[in-house]
Amino acid sequence: MRSVIDILDLSVQELDSLTDTALDIIAHPEKYAHACEGKKLAALFFEPSTRTRLSFEAAMYELGGHVLSVSDANNASTYKGESVADTVKMASCYADIIAMRHPRDGAALVAAANASIPVINGGDGGHCHPTQTLADLLTIRREKGRFDHLTVGVCGDLKYGRTVHSLIGAMSRYEGTRFVLISPKELRIPAYVRRETLAKNAVHYTETVDLDAAIPELDILYMTRIQRERFGDPAEYERLKDSYVLTPDKLAAARPDMAILHPLPRVNEISVAVDADPRAAYFRQALNGKYMRMALILKLLAEADGVPFQAPAADFSTGHICRNPRCITHTEQELPQAFRPDSSEPGVYRCLYCDTAAE
Ligand code: CP
Repeated sequence: MRSVIDILDLSVQELDSLTDTALDIIAHPEKYAHACEGKKLAALFFEPSTRTRLSFEAAMYELGGHVLSVSDANNASTYKGESVADTVKMASCYADIIAMRHPRDGAALVAAANASIPVINGGDGGHCHPTQTLADLLTIRREKGRFDHLTVGVCGDLKYGRTVHSLIGAMSRYEGTRFVLISPKELRIPAYVRRETLAKNAVHYTETVDLDAAIPELDILYMTRIQRERFGDPAEYERLKDSYVLTPDKLAAARPDMAILHPLPRVNEISVAVDADPRAAYFRQALNGKYMRMALILKLLAEADGVPFQAPAADFSTGHICRNPRCITHTEQELPQAFRPDSSEPGVYRCLYCDTAAE
């Protein structure tokens, strides 16, 4: 059974093939209008969402399928304490494929390991958001015409921004990618992303706090929101929330063909005055998300073979306990602690679910 938890679950060839399918859907929607007739998507959203949930639902409807939806954890048996594992076992009885968003890091892996139908991660805490990356990739392809040899500025909350971690994972696999990582010092990209993704793939990157200095060299500027909901200390959020605000003035120094992306929702990190700039691609990006989710649903349903999902290899006997307070291991009933060796740092183990290093 194929599930997509992380963007790295999809090969570069598969990403290219998904973007090809999405472009064909855009060109010939009628070819796909009945492709999922008789199929049901369970959209299980235990954390707020506008784009991801609505675009998954629109995707399934436009493929001729049906949708079963949970849009509020308080209106599902999660409220009574039902585990993720039991919830997806139930959804497997009623639907053919699951799209799930959950506030806990690692919840998507627990879902995939317990469902008997494919699971698509619609965002698990601050961990991964692979279908946002699919939307980002289609946008890059449509705006820039290629994936290789691009200088990508990623700006804002690089610590908690799950879309950032997934985008860096995907773009690191294309030749000639350069990243300029722009953030306050407190919100730098996590060390494991620097080591396991950037260093491991020998990707050229620089880190800076200065958006103005970086902007002239960028092909793409990927703005992100400071993730208020992931901060333990509200005062720290207040101090950092306005670190970057993109305005028409700042864009004067940017290339005339630089594409501005943002996973949305924005708070105030992009001024509304920027929306009229032809380089502002973020609303087109949200629409692209629907086409990529259509392509992914088609692919996973076509590949669904009833063979249980194979969780990655793990060591259940290291004696470690995951110290990430947002990890699913702290709330899921009887979930064993499971660790995997860090692929780039000998002797270091990482939580199988949320990737946090064991202490
Ligand atoms: N980009 C994104 O995930 O938006 P939503 O939170 O509205 O789904």
